[in-house]
Amino acid sequence: MPKPLARYSTIDVRLFAPNLGAEIAGVAIEDGVSPEQFSEIRSAFLDHQVLFFKDQKEISPERQIEFGRLFGELHTHPAAPSMTGYPEIFEIHVHKDSAVANGEFWHSDVSCDERPPLGTMLQLHVLPAAGGDTMFSDMYGAYESLSGAMQEFLAGLTATHASDHVYPGRYSDRGQHDSNIDCPSSVHPVIRTHPDTQRPALYVNRTFTTRINELSENESGVVLQMLFDHAEKIDFQIRYRWGHNDMAFWDNRCCMHRAIWDYWPAERKGRRVTIRGERPALADFRP
Ligand code: SIN
Repeated sequence: MPKPLARYSTIDVRLFAPNLGAEIAGVAIEDGVSPEQFSEIRSAFLDHQVLFFKDQKEISPERQIEFGRLFGELHTHPAAPSMTGYPEIFEIHVHKDSAVANGEFWHSDVSCDERPPLGTMLQLHVLPAAGGDTMFSDMYGAYESLSGAMQEFLAGLTATHASDHVYPGRYSDRGQHDSNIDCPSSVHPVIRTHPDTQRPALYVNRTFTTRINELSENESGVVLQMLFDHAEKIDFQIRYRWGHNDMAFWDNRCCMHRAIWDYWPAERKGRRVTIRGERPALADFRP
């Protein structure tokens, strides 16, 4: 069922798809956001999980940092190099000589951190002529569509989210050497409660989640594979085709994403700011 659209008076909000996402117009982030606009943006973010800000000018690093801080303290990536002079900014830059592109497999950003990012804001300034889309997947929907028996089985289970198989060597083509990086590993509930909406969401992803701790290795492997396949079903997905200077702002607590690198040798470039989240909280199972 399409999500009902709340009434907004200081921004324009249009559903991107019935299940997930909204496009936001009528606000120019580079020119500043009023307290009323901030409050409506925050409501739309909680209602739609990922927002796409259209018709933007290029947002300066200072303004993007300031906008991010409205939502909370900023998060610093444990391994990726930051933009020179701006430790809060992670530059996304892929070109013909890149060895990897960021986010090519389904994930929730840096879920290996003890306090993973609440949300991520990415504005893209250089786009390939075609391709370079980002996909998002609704983890409330993924949880809700599991059978009651599976929801009950998963309630109370925890998973390890590691990064020592992800980060070493990953950013070496950008001058980041392994001696400078941290590879966090954390234990989070398999089903988490979103701290603002109180809705349960599936919280495992193919990039970082390595083990369900309460199961044997074999059981964990089988259950995780089933959950990854379930969470990546097209039923929960949208695919966003970027426009120049669009900014996406996604909620890592209830959606996953994946960036498509189908545009080599073309270039794709932008700046990303992440907002620090809280420790994921275990969801109560309510039959
Ligand atoms: C990411 O932050 O995972 C990358 C997203 C993108 O480049 O579309």
